[in-house]
Amino acid sequence: MLDIGALTQIANDLFRELPTGGQWPTAPSRPAGLTLPQPAGAPPLPANPLPLATSLPATPPFVVSQPAAAAAAAPPSAITPRVLPTQSQSLDQHGFNTTVAPALPHGGGVSQGVPEAYAAGLPAAAPVPLPTDSALPAPPLSPPSTPYYFLGEASGWPSSAAPAPLPTVPDFAVPAGLDTHVLREPAAPAPAAPAAPQYYFTESATPPARGTPAVPEGRRHFDVQAVRRDFPILQERVNGRPLVWLDNAATTQKPQAVIDRLAYFYAHENSNIHRAAHELAARATDAYEGARNKVARFLGASSAEEIIFVRGATEAINLVAQSWGRQNVREGDEIIVSQLEHHANIVPWQMLAAEKGAKLRVIPVDDSGQVRLDEYQKLLNDRTRIVAVTQVSNALGTIVPVLQIVEMGHRAGAKVLIDGAQAVSHLRVNMRALDADFYVFSGHKIFGPTGIGVVYGKRELLEQMQPWQGGGNMIQDVTFEKTVYHGAPARFEAGTGNIADAVGLGAALDYLERLGLENVAAYEHDLLEYATQLLRGIPGLRLIGTAKEKTSVLSFVLQGYQTEEVGKALNQEGIAVRSGHHCAQPILRRFGVEATVRPSLAFYNTCEEVELLARVVQRLARARN
Ligand code: ALA
Repeated sequence: MLDIGALTQIANDLFRELPTGGQWPTAPSRPAGLTLPQPAGAPPLPANPLPLATSLPATPPFVVSQPAAAAAAAPPSAITPRVLPTQSQSLDQHGFNTTVAPALPHGGGVSQGVPEAYAAGLPAAAPVPLPTDSALPAPPLSPPSTPYYFLGEASGWPSSAAPAPLPTVPDFAVPAGLDTHVLREPAAPAPAAPAAPQYYFTESATPPARGTPAVPEGRRHFDVQAVRRDFPILQERVNGRPLVWLDNAATTQKPQAVIDRLAYFYAHENSNIHRAAHELAARATDAYEGARNKVARFLGASSAEEIIFVRGATEAINLVAQSWGRQNVREGDEIIVSQLEHHANIVPWQMLAAEKGAKLRVIPVDDSGQVRLDEYQKLLNDRTRIVAVTQVSNALGTIVPVLQIVEMGHRAGAKVLIDGAQAVSHLRVNMRALDADFYVFSGHKIFGPTGIGVVYGKRELLEQMQPWQGGGNMIQDVTFEKTVYHGAPARFEAGTGNIADAVGLGAALDYLERLGLENVAAYEHDLLEYATQLLRGIPGLRLIGTAKEKTSVLSFVLQGYQTEEVGKALNQEGIAVRSGHHCAQPILRRFGVEATVRPSLAFYNTCEEVELLARVVQRLARARN
């Protein structure tokens, strides 16, 4: 008679014996931290008198990128196009390799079509080709830990197929100066979008839009209009206007590549994983474990076994608090968080502290919204068990110097968790450089589906941690007397997980890698700087969060207005922003407010969009100030 347990063991042993298949490429890094201009030097909002109004007047329809009209209108002053060198590598204080990757003319999100047949038995797909980071040890590609049906990342889904070369499209760049810039009213309707996405970067030969200077040989522009065509929802209209999605800190929109990948999964691969001995189980398992490999590569983890799938960053932090925390935090111990934290990185620790009789201690921030490392140092002591700090503030956009946070925490003998929910879509991270014990993020904030998120944990820690939920999928053997658990990550994934959305997350990471996080960071840096300058010039507007290093968030309050009023007025113009406390009440109260209006940017946002935002806010300001 067949002994399933013995067969499983044999299969397991066989898989563990498989060759590791080469080395993982490691990721280059570039910080997106930026130096914001100081308020004193902020230029006035460009002279384009907006009609004074007593209520909340409407703004004429907004045009998304109209190169011809833009060229005819008064152009912004000269811009300095981003140069994308391939130069020396070094780590900055955030743990990022500051090497800038070359802009690759890949066509992420190019419609690949849905293949008819599953490519069973394909060799493992090559990892996303990233430049090697020679400063870091390249770990071997380890086989997944769960024993069944692994064909590497083989799938019928051609996610890494190279796009066909297509003609270049007009480029776009962010104006760096405002002195001659005018917030233009749109002059012409938007052109119909070409059917297929094309290159994301244009060569210098392409005449730049918006009156920008000729681009020196060898430089490339991030082609935001090509990127936008990958996101079908950006064609939506809201209140009769084109949607302007500036609520990216709440959630990001999804490229067609992710939408297609989800549909493909349900059309061709759907099955539960790991259990059934049939073809679709193999496909689903391959797709799911392939996604885990992609996440591991994306984070620069040492192994896919360090990646646990959860529902999102909130569940991720709860997992660490309930598993590692319950095992390791005792009465009198201390847990450190910062004043910047999202409630998701406060409440689970409060609950643990209350249960254990431990104490929560808080790193204060300075008036710009940056954490005070001097105060942090004072809080660290031999009772500190864990430090849990965000990498980017969801409410203010502050980029926290997490490399120093980790180093200092480790020096005190504490473990360190970094909440990367607001960071991963903007900044390159690398776990082996950062050396955090835990790192968490949510899929939906990085252009992936909702309901999927990630805990990265150092393998030696995960292996010591007890499961936090029990059930199927996470056990090796169950009797009524005793249960033997799988190793990590399966021991933390009880029950049927969010298989399809994990696969969708993998597609989102592929998409982002094709764009290049370094290119995204550079573009967003310029766009944030531009938007900051526009908003700073508006009378009665107070920016909350002015740290030197910020990414993609502009929180503000407007004199004479409740934040909901501003949010509603923006919505009338098709502009989506969040207004409220952003699940980060302590940091808003630090600045004396209960709520802010929070536009938040992604790489598909444009200069015209932030100009429209500024125009509407300026009109509101004039009506009541
Ligand atoms: N954490 C999300 C936000 O900041 C929901 O809006």
